[in-house]
Amino acid sequence: MTWAASLLVSALALPLALWRWGRRRFHMIRLGAKFPGPFAMPIVGNALDPGSMDGAAIFNWGCKILKIYGPLYRYYLGPYLMIGSTHPKDNELILSGNKFLKKTRLYNKFLEPWLGDGLLLSHGDKWRSRRKRLTPAFHFKILDQFQSVILNCGNEFVRQLQKRAGGVAFDVWPLVKLLTLDVICETTMGVKMNAQINSSSKYVNAVEEISDITVKRIIQPWLHIDFIFYLSSIGRKYKKCLEVLHGTTDKVIRDRREDILKISETLGDATFDIDELGRRRRVAFLDLLLIEARNGHFSDADIREEVDTFMFEGHDTTASAISFTMFALSHHQDVQEKVLEELKTVFDRSQPLEPTIQQISELKYLEMVVKESLRIYPPVPLFYRDTNQDEKLPSTGHVLPAGSLTEVNVFGTHRYEALYPDPLRFDPERFSTEESAKRHPYAYLPFSAGPRNCIGQRFAMLELKSIIAKVVWNFRILPDLDFEPQMSWKLVLKTENGVRLRLLQRS
Ligand code: HEM
Repeated sequence: MTWAASLLVSALALPLALWRWGRRRFHMIRLGAKFPGPFAMPIVGNALDPGSMDGAAIFNWGCKILKIYGPLYRYYLGPYLMIGSTHPKDNELILSGNKFLKKTRLYNKFLEPWLGDGLLLSHGDKWRSRRKRLTPAFHFKILDQFQSVILNCGNEFVRQLQKRAGGVAFDVWPLVKLLTLDVICETTMGVKMNAQINSSSKYVNAVEEISDITVKRIIQPWLHIDFIFYLSSIGRKYKKCLEVLHGTTDKVIRDRREDILKISETLGDATFDIDELGRRRRVAFLDLLLIEARNGHFSDADIREEVDTFMFEGHDTTASAISFTMFALSHHQDVQEKVLEELKTVFDRSQPLEPTIQQISELKYLEMVVKESLRIYPPVPLFYRDTNQDEKLPSTGHVLPAGSLTEVNVFGTHRYEALYPDPLRFDPERFSTEESAKRHPYAYLPFSAGPRNCIGQRFAMLELKSIIAKVVWNFRILPDLDFEPQMSWKLVLKTENGVRLRLLQRS
């Protein structure tokens, strides 16, 4: 092709691409307009509507949108059309098949500097192969090995709570975060963090700050542009947080690598993947990654992104769940007493509580309590998917337009009056076998559902039940009647003012 012909093709290609883009966008806006939602300003959309950019203002605005326009609604974040789904049938369409497996470009872009392209954010063949390789790290035999660590960390948690068990109100959330960090590091990573004993963790504080910054960035479209973001004060803070977070995970990997090297030198190379009978051994998460690296399946960067992903997902979510369950119990003495009664039927009251994984599975009422807490306070209240093709929603017949972003609003589903009458009432009986069987399977989604559900779900439930059992065994949890939680969304459901309650040691 001559240079003149090339020039002509280029001159035609640009307007053609623009025309196609405009047609797709017009189509998306036209279909989007059929969903109820607030008036959106040009360029910024509804980004200025929350009024302020703190997590509580964003949370309150989200609740307002849900109340006025829900259960199916739309809003614009800058150029992005967001469609919120709460109806179980719509949730099922989005989560159950393979059409919506891709996480949204919005949080991929903003979480990637921190979490890389790990299991939470990756898609396509990479995600599929990682999911398959990592699933054995949460096999029930591995969970069985984790249980003694969860109990040891739980005992340290009880010791920390004993210092505050004089009936005076305090904020339990910071203690819970250190506990869950200790648990995730010592179980899945095989590295002792001792965060509870040292009473602080730079890692935990950096997670807090970076989650807050990420939400602020998502909601302010002008900060989507890297150049502007990294020049801003929160962009500079973000970089500092990254140094702390990656510094911590690098150290975790280094420490475990050294441990493995020492053990291999003493006991032989095969110790980690082959057992004494020559069978392939089930190994915990980080050991599995290091073995996969030795076999050439994972690079150092692959290990880092997965360790970053699992350390975050594995501690912040469980901290939210434990704190809110303790809060709910503080306001429901009757439920707390029933939990204790159930524990007494299985354990000897004169002994410390050290439940096996089997005993934990027998505690059905405790499970109902934890499930009800995860309903009212889902630690992951919202998650997102890209919509690549038009898709008719079964609940109303509205069409999800290609190019929009779907917001699965678990918080909204869990508080949907038609599914959960009197939704704010804390009532564990909603999760009796009979009541659960009556509900649509996509009406309860604390761990999502379908192929991209939470890989750590069974581990999380084991940890939540074990820790709550220990707390109730040792203490009576009382409310702080002056405390009203100021709910907030920082990727994970949190509050702006901690979780305050009082404790009395049980005799
Ligand atoms: C109460 C605790 C937990 C809750 C409520 C929770 C909830 C969720 C939810 C809703 C998702 C789907 C997110 C999305 O689609 O964007 C998810 C995914 C995930 N969770 Fe959890 N999680 C919890 C604990 C854990 C733990 C303990 C781990 C690890 C040890 C973990 C690791 C992951 C990972 C890696 C994914 C991504 C899975 C994939 O895309 O294949 N989570 N979790």
